[in-house]
Amino acid sequence: MIKTGFLWRTIFAGIVLIAYVGCSSGTKEAGGEACVDPKVVAGYVHAIIEADRTLYASLVVERMKHHGKDLVAEDWAEKDKLPLPAQMLQFAGLEVERKGAGLKYRLASLWPIDKTNGPVNDIERTGLQAVSDDPSTVQTSTINQPTGPLFKAIYADRAVSETCVTCHNEHSLSPRSNYKLNDVMGGIIIEFPLKSS
Ligand code: HEC
Repeated sequence: MIKTGFLWRTIFAGIVLIAYVGCSSGTKEAGGEACVDPKVVAGYVHAIIEADRTLYASLVVERMKHHGKDLVAEDWAEKDKLPLPAQMLQFAGLEVERKGAGLKYRLASLWPIDKTNGPVNDIERTGLQAVSDDPSTVQTSTINQPTGPLFKAIYADRAVSETCVTCHNEHSLSPRSNYKLNDVMGGIIIEFPLKSS
C-alpha cells in the first residue's frame, strides 16, 4: 500500500509540474501563458523525491527496525522483504519514465555499488564531480537533441546517517570504502524535455 501511494504521488506531481514548463530560463510568460524556470521545476521534483525517500526511510525502515523488525534487504524479492530506500527511488524513477511524459530521474554516483548507476556521459560525470566538490550547488545543463531541448539537473546526495556510510563502505561491490558522515556519495539526476510533445 505504501509503495503504491508513494509512486502515484510522485508520478502525479511530476506530470503536473512538467505541464508548467513552457518557457526558457528566467522568462515569466510565453505566448500569454504563465511558465516556470526549469531550474525551479527541477527543484520541485527534487523536493518530492527527497521527501518520499526520507519518509520511506523514517516511517517504514527505521520505525520497523525500532520495533525489532529488520524488514529491508537488497535482495528483497528473494528474501520476501522490502526494498532499500535507494532501490525504491530507482523503481519510482523507472515508473515515472514509463508514464512517457519525458520526466526521468535516478540516483547515480561516481563510485556506484551497481555499475548501471554510474554516469552515462561526460555531462553526468562532470556534474557529479562538481556536486561532490561543492554540494551546495545544483549542476544544470540544457542538451539539444533532435526531439528538442532536454533539461538536466544534478543534486548532491550526501551520507546523512551512519547507516549510509556503513552499508556502502562494507558492501562487497562498492568501489569505495572510506565514506564518512556528510560525504557526498553521489547525486540525484533529474531530466525533462523543455518542449511538451
Ligand atoms: C543497507 C545498505 C544500504 C544503505 C543503508 C544505503 N544504501 Fe545506498 N545503495 C545501496 C545499494 C545496494 C545500492 C544499489 C541499488 C541499486 O541496485 O540501484 C545503493 C545505491 C546508492 C546510490 C547510487 C549509486 C550506487 O552506489 O549504486 C547512492 C548515491 C546511494 N545509494 C546513497 C546512499 C545514501 C545517501 C544513503 C543513506 C541515506 C544510502 N545510500 C543508504 C545500499 C545501501
